[in-house]
Amino acid sequence: MRVLVTGGAGFIGSHVVDRLVADGHAVDVVDNLSTGRRERVNAAARLFVCDLRSARLDGAFAAARPEAIVHLAAQAAVPRSVADPRFDASVTVLGTLAVLDAARRVAVRRVVYISTGGAVYGDTDVLPTPEDHPTRPASPYGVSKLAGERYLECWAGLTGTPTLTLRLAKARVRESPDAAEELLSGAAEELAHALEELRELARGIHPAVLTEHGLAPALETLVGRAPIPVAVDANLDGRLPPPVEAAAFYVVSEALANVTKYADASAVEVRVGRANGYAVVEVADDGVGGADPARGSGLRGLADRVEALQGKLEIESRPGEGTRVRAEIPVP
Ligand SMILES: Nc1ncnc2c1ncn2[C@@H]1O[C@H](COP(=O)(O)OP(=O)(O)OP(=O)(O)O)[C@@H](O)[C@H]1O
Ligand SMILES: [Mg+2]
Repeated sequence: MRVLVTGGAGFIGSHVVDRLVADGHAVDVVDNLSTGRRERVNAAARLFVCDLRSARLDGAFAAARPEAIVHLAAQAAVPRSVADPRFDASVTVLGTLAVLDAARRVAVRRVVYISTGGAVYGDTDVLPTPEDHPTRPASPYGVSKLAGERYLECWAGLTGTPTLTLRLAKARVRESPDAAEELLSGAAEELAHALEELRELARGIHPAVLTEHGLAPALETLVGRAPIPVAVDANLDGRLPPPVEAAAFYVVSEALANVTKYADASAVEVRVGRANGYAVVEVADDGVGGADPARGSGLRGLADRVEALQGKLEIESRPGEGTRVRAEIPVP
């Protein structure tokens, strides 16, 4: 899976990157190196030195084409947030919004937000503080990180993209260095848990059945979840190369999601096959038509993905005449 880590040159971020690389993911890092360090970034990851608020962020996302994002970049110093709350908010709040905007444009499938385990709760008299304790941040830093969580939830609802927030408890290490070892091993466990969740999410993206059994069985599971009848005609002689299978799977998954959301269709046909060195994938519905890639990011994301494999994506969707999404991807 292609994963983009913001803040990947920082303390937690660089460990997340190391682990993702070790697990075989293709990792890109966006970091402005304000507190992060270039030497910390795993040599197998590509580093885009870029501020979240810069106009170049979209370019970095377009080049990286991430399937998932782990967002850690933030103004991370509590004292600085107290001294300069507007600066803090500009980095953490506006930066998070810039990441979510860029993520939407490249049709990211999952976002993991690394929040903070201490500052969002403020001073509590319940220790250890349970996750569902009311949040009463006592610093602008805590307010900004919490705002990021809320924006993420809202964005998840608006875009239909699954997200996950993890409140790590790292700041406490600084406050009680004596207990650091114990706290760090707790943090390591938490991180391992976070990565396990990330792997779960990755499996959601490339379901195990796709990697293990190929496109046709994977499509059956997709189709089984669709709320309207879907006819599948899969004519594949054996397996396709993994990138082609993944792209084809995405085409069907996005097109079916769109049919469910917009088409008001009574039936859908999914066809996959091979012809003249190409894998051909087609999803056709008999719904309202009028699909317009300019109105969203899903179809454009598919076109990018298919074009990245030297293929092409066609959308035929006259109003009233249903929608046909067709991808042709060369099989090397
Ligand atoms: N099968 C369809 N039938 C009717 N309209 C469609 C269909 N597919 C897409 N559309 C229309 O085309 C627009 C663009 O679709 P696209 O998948 O690119 O974006 P989206 O679904 O709105 O957002 P995203 O996929 O980024 O969550 C949709 O907003 C919808 O209006
Ligand atoms: Mg869509």
